[in-house]
Amino acid sequence: MAGMVVGDPPSGPGPVLARHGGLGASARRRSPEPSPPAEPFGVYVHIPFCASRCGYCDFATWTDRGHQVEAYVDACVRDVDRLRRSGAARPATSVFFGGGTPSLLPASSLLRILDSIERVPGCEVTVECNPDSVDAPKLGEYRAGGVTRISLGVQSMAPHVLAYLERTHDPANVERAVAWARAVGFEHLNLDLIYGTPGETVDDWRATLERAVALGPDHVSAYALTVEPGTPLGRRVAAGSVPGPDDDDQADRYEIADDVLTGAGFAWYEISNWARPGGECRHNLLYWTGGEYLPVGCAAHGHRAGRRSWNVRNPDRYVAALEGGRSPEAGSEVLDPQARAEEAFALALRTAGGAPLPDSGAEPAALLAGLERDGFVRLGGGRVRLTRRGRLMATDVTARLLAAGVADPGPVADAEPVALRLGRGGRPG
Ligand SMILES: C[S@@+](CC[C@H](N)C(=O)[O-])C[C@H]1O[C@@H](n2cnc3c(N)ncnc32)[C@H](O)[C@@H]1O
Ligand code: SF4
Repeated sequence: MAGMVVGDPPSGPGPVLARHGGLGASARRRSPEPSPPAEPFGVYVHIPFCASRCGYCDFATWTDRGHQVEAYVDACVRDVDRLRRSGAARPATSVFFGGGTPSLLPASSLLRILDSIERVPGCEVTVECNPDSVDAPKLGEYRAGGVTRISLGVQSMAPHVLAYLERTHDPANVERAVAWARAVGFEHLNLDLIYGTPGETVDDWRATLERAVALGPDHVSAYALTVEPGTPLGRRVAAGSVPGPDDDDQADRYEIADDVLTGAGFAWYEISNWARPGGECRHNLLYWTGGEYLPVGCAAHGHRAGRRSWNVRNPDRYVAALEGGRSPEAGSEVLDPQARAEEAFALALRTAGGAPLPDSGAEPAALLAGLERDGFVRLGGGRVRLTRRGRLMATDVTARLLAAGVADPGPVADAEPVALRLGRGGRPG
């Protein structure tokens, strides 16, 4: 199958309470009525430290900044405080610590940032962990400190694939990390997988999926290996010393992932994401549905009131800004209604719920009918949804629909504005 472009790597409400700074217990006792669900609101916290750099990764992360960790944590806490005082913050329904490797921080440091964020009761709090940078005490501290969900960067269960990816962990690290996460009480566990690494066989991939499912996660993200220019992998592919990923191969692997995961009781809910019922990541849903979230940390992106913003990329500059009492924001933009509508349409189409059908227009109607006839989309209930065939061709299908004027700024502009570029959410590249 040609042209497939699945797999961009990345990322339930109630009333207000933080471990610090929310409603007190007495205030909660005075309101016996169940409160209406809080409006979804996220906080993305970027932790830009890694033990070593994987050859395929172009995320904003550094391997030589161990000395800077506490100053960085202080800066994040100051940033949260600054955002609260500016009126930008609302009680969070989800917090996502992404990286980099958040689990490299001492648990007390990560929890110092978390404690500073006002959260609703039941707030989803995810921490991205590398399998060899956690242990049972650290996971226990996370759990006791309010973390509700662990996202483990497994990538593969084949040692030679892990070696190619320059990962520092082995499959035994993964099994131990999952056992510890369970032992300390985590019910919500995501496993990140990568497919299409040079040298990975179909059997390697199938075995990775089967071993991942056997570990009992309630969420799996499976990303096609993306060759990023400027990375060691990108340079090797550009020099011709290794082949780049093959579209047809990656499409086959996507179908294997979908078969194994759906066969094991997971449902796909976004192109690269599958969950058991109730295991969907609320924070990522916020990105895909145009919700609002604050950026904390260097290179983090945020979205509020139709305005996107991003912080300085470099951790030195981030720390210096906060220490100097300045905003770490490096830039911002407000999309015009048409661009917002197109982005909202494209993001919604990536999800199982699909995107709203346009009210009228001969060109979109003819194209949609043709795409349905060819098995790329299903139409119904006022929405257009990708079939599996359509998911494999999502970028092409989306581009054709947008070119035909399917995204209508009228109704979409009235809905929640959209906040991000496809794929990565608040996570910086
Ligand atoms: C930026 S990492 C952070 C998590 C953690 N440091 C780790 O690597 O396990 C988040 C996820 O993005 C995915 N990812 C990063 N770079 C990728 C690439 N070039 N192609 C496909 N997936 C990628 C990996 O699955 C990874 O687990
Ligand atoms: S993939 Fe994860 S561990 Fe590897 S360099 Fe990127 S952020 Fe760090």
